[in-house]
Amino acid sequence: MSHNIQGTKANITDVSDTPVMDPGTVSKETKATSGALKKSSRYRSRSLSASSTDSFSSASYTGSSSEEDESSPREKSQKNSSGFLDFCVRNINQHAFGRREIEIAEHEMPGIMALRKRACEDKPLKNAKIVGCTHINAQTAVLIETLVELGATVRWAACNIYSTQNEVAAALAEAGYAVFAWRGETEEDFWWCIDKCVNAENWQPNMILDDGGDATHLMLKKYPAMFKMVRGIVEESVTGVHRLYQLSKSAKLSVPAMNVNDSVTKTKFDNLYSCRESIIDSLKRSTDIMFGGKQVVICGYGEVGKGCCQALKGLGCIVYITEIDPICALQASMDGFRVVKLNEVIRNVDIVITATGNKNVVVREHMDKMKSGCIVCNMGHSNTEIDVNSLRTPDLTWEKVRSQVDHIVWPDGKRIILLAEGRLVNLSCSSVPSFVVSITSATQALALIELFNAPAGRYKSDVYLLPKKMDEYVASLHLPTFDAHLTELTDEQAKYMGLNKAGPFKPNYYRY
Ligand SMILES: NC(=O)c1ccc[n+]([C@@H]2O[C@H](COP(=O)([O-])OP(=O)(O)OC[C@H]3O[C@@H](n4cnc5c(N)ncnc54)[C@H](O)[C@@H]3O)[C@@H](O)[C@H]2O)c1
Repeated sequence: MSHNIQGTKANITDVSDTPVMDPGTVSKETKATSGALKKSSRYRSRSLSASSTDSFSSASYTGSSSEEDESSPREKSQKNSSGFLDFCVRNINQHAFGRREIEIAEHEMPGIMALRKRACEDKPLKNAKIVGCTHINAQTAVLIETLVELGATVRWAACNIYSTQNEVAAALAEAGYAVFAWRGETEEDFWWCIDKCVNAENWQPNMILDDGGDATHLMLKKYPAMFKMVRGIVEESVTGVHRLYQLSKSAKLSVPAMNVNDSVTKTKFDNLYSCRESIIDSLKRSTDIMFGGKQVVICGYGEVGKGCCQALKGLGCIVYITEIDPICALQASMDGFRVVKLNEVIRNVDIVITATGNKNVVVREHMDKMKSGCIVCNMGHSNTEIDVNSLRTPDLTWEKVRSQVDHIVWPDGKRIILLAEGRLVNLSCSSVPSFVVSITSATQALALIELFNAPAGRYKSDVYLLPKKMDEYVASLHLPTFDAHLTELTDEQAKYMGLNKAGPFKPNYYRY
């Protein structure tokens, strides 16, 4: 699908293939075609649920909201209380509400707040001019304001047309940031907003913070000369990283880029710890199920699967695992789980969860065998793990019982409970904790600092991982929250281990 940039008719999706789906990013095409998918965006369930009638809504602050105001923000002339005009949000008057949301998020984002405090005097981002394209919500606002405290000037657009918390965008505009975003942008608005961030008077951006690769993409295609002046790109999503590697492979990447998606802290916290909590939250909110004694099969014993297993076992579930990889299967066995083939347990289980990143893991044949009342959901990458399309046959009846909950009824009255139509259940039915976003944000901020301050030659035009030491630093920023006290190596121990006392403490190949 091509997207015309207003005024240029440039096809800015030329650079890469249609990106793969990603927990952090939804392809624009899907966004445009699936209204329901808007609730599956990451980091924004508060915002999204607030605007919906969903029973799982965890925040109701947008009761006042602008959803009734159908006019395009682009048609409105707005200014903040200081007369600042360089922004485009739904309704600047909502700023106080947004500010309160940002303050709440700050409390649960100790790492990024600690970084702000520690580095604000040094101003490591002084003279950095950052084009940001991320979700715009309370948590990312904390990141944006941190970058500014560290010396950066920013212009910010949303990376998802549905995910903006309008009140937060208003709060950022009120604070004097050039923010261009509102919930429910059209495709054209979406690119217009990014364009406003890239191309402005007296503005030569030198850094990009991207989530999905769209700002990078637009600048590269539409403003190639400007792109060449950029010192670094920080990319957070699988999709964006995939695009960067493609650019690098085709020798079109002329600046260094950092893949923060694969930082250890990010991967661990997103995949293991966050999923460990959100699987329970999602199932509870959508089905009100009691877990004790329930039989659950989890397909995939990777990071996500392990998190789900821990949580469900902790609540008294009997957990079975399916795996293709003998190492993960052995891990599951050693952790006390029965490793089975799906067909061995499919008739008896109460819950089926996929977490493989693979496709057609649960197919119609399995669903035909499930018992009535079985809950089926997916925690993995995309909506192909469960073959939902195979359920769209004339013999089966779909009953929407709640938002994100469908009963699929067989001719004999058997029904299975399908959550979020097979999309990532936690992103659809739960919220991502600010604490996890704090880790990601701290990682992004450090990557920006590193690329911006790196001496010439340290990074070539390629895609890099955040240096291990910085990954460790991100973790250390979060330790005081837990009153955790690290042991320091003695000189003798450091020598014995061949380590620097300040880290890094592990080689790059170490698996945590
Ligand atoms: N829901 C979320 O919030 C969230 C967060 C992070 C990642 N993810 C996604 O979840 C998926 C899993 O992530 P991960 O970090 O655990 O990956 P992983 O690679 O560590 O684990 C996936 C496991 O599934 C196994 N597997 C593959 N095909 C299988 C099959 N047919 N049957 C059984 N097992 C199979 C693999 O051997 C592997 O051990 C990915 O798609 C990832 O993008 C989701």
